[in-house]
Amino acid sequence: MAQSKSINVCIVGTGYVGLVTGACLASIGHNIWFVDSDREKIDALLAGNVPIYEPGLDSLVAEGRKNKLLNFTTSIPEGVNEAEVVFICVGTPPRATGEADLVYVEQASKEIARNLNGYKVIAEKSTVPVQTGKRIELTLTRNNDGNHPFDVASNPEFLREGSAIADTMNPDRIVVGTNSPRAADILRNLYQPILERSKAPYIVTDMQTAELIKHASNAFLATKISFINVVANICERTGADVRKVAESMGYDKRIGRAFLDAGIGYGGSCFPKDVEAFIHIAGQLGYNFELLKAVAKINQQQRQNLVDKVRDALWNLEGKQIAVWGLAFKPNTDDIRNAPALDIVASLLKEGAHVKVYDPAAMEKAAEVLKDTHFSSSALDAAQDCDCLVVLTEWDEFSLVDKQKLKELLKYPIVIDGRNMFDRKEMEKLGFTYYGVGA
Ligand code: UGA
Repeated sequence: MAQSKSINVCIVGTGYVGLVTGACLASIGHNIWFVDSDREKIDALLAGNVPIYEPGLDSLVAEGRKNKLLNFTTSIPEGVNEAEVVFICVGTPPRATGEADLVYVEQASKEIARNLNGYKVIAEKSTVPVQTGKRIELTLTRNNDGNHPFDVASNPEFLREGSAIADTMNPDRIVVGTNSPRAADILRNLYQPILERSKAPYIVTDMQTAELIKHASNAFLATKISFINVVANICERTGADVRKVAESMGYDKRIGRAFLDAGIGYGGSCFPKDVEAFIHIAGQLGYNFELLKAVAKINQQQRQNLVDKVRDALWNLEGKQIAVWGLAFKPNTDDIRNAPALDIVASLLKEGAHVKVYDPAAMEKAAEVLKDTHFSSSALDAAQDCDCLVVLTEWDEFSLVDKQKLKELLKYPIVIDGRNMFDRKEMEKLGFTYYGVGA
């Protein structure tokens, strides 16, 4: 791949966004300093262990280390010292009110300010509410001695877990919000090889516009999902097939097929949190974002709808044995943060059911939060002697399971498919009682 002029980059926060961004920037020749206050994480990285599950990240980090382009430290002064660009990638967890907690962003900004030693671009990459950039700028101004110039930028990230590297190396767009042409140029140079290979547009806006692009993009995708879930509910009442509706809607280029898969709703560390944070900041700005409130409510209801289907299939749940396939919030990740499966399993347990779960990657994490649940060694093992099977994450592995065997193992051949993985006609032909979502 084309190499750009090597730029020294400091990345504060080694979560998904920070680690993937740094590893990808090293792969195009930049020199990266990762900073994280979590000593254990930094020690793991120094020992060559990547603390998150993301396809391809291990080898990209190993390659960066081999090329001596990745450095790891717990010290912001050390990380910032030689950097020309400093990315803030720290967590912005939700508060009980739905508001984003920006304490870590403020702390990082203060420490960066105190360690400025020459011109630097400070770019915010964590997802933050509109106008956070202004706060960061003020914090930087207040906390440095005034002798070292800097510019602030908002540079939101659009990567998805499970395809984070591909998304970073082949983005649909790169957005930079800054009032400084100098900062916009430096960041353009940083991304040049990626811009060349992906032909992605490089969009320069003011800071608040860039911040809103991120929130609006995630909120819009969440809206698409809730919309199709409502259509699925209407399909269920009329016998229509939501998959056909989505497919045909998708041929309209103005709509597009992506994010029109009906199911048990969205989860993960982004959509639920960002939707709430967007509602919250809109409220603070004096706008009641009713549309987005409905999106969130519909999303929560989808989880309950699935439980209602299990009850419909089995009548009383007390004492019933239920197999659950899939715990991660989506396939190809071990992430269970805000996974619909966790809520659904909790509801089944609350109604007195015994639950046997299996997930190809998320069992270890789930074991920390799911109590009173039996963890099975395989999909078929989970199904054995169960009154029904509930599918909550659409892992490829599940579509390869021998259905004849599945039918033999289940006490009753009942499948409640929360992700429309299977085809109703095929399942019914095999003798299953099948419940899909609008299909
Ligand atoms: C999402 C966005 O897709 C990224 O662009 C964004 O950068 C990221 O959030 C972020 O803000 O960091 P991610 O949370 O990794 O990425 O996962 P998605 O692939 O978007 O899926 C989110 C949820 O929506 C999953 O639970 C998935 O099962 C669900 N979903 C997705 C549906 O229920 N239906 C669909 O049609 C698509």
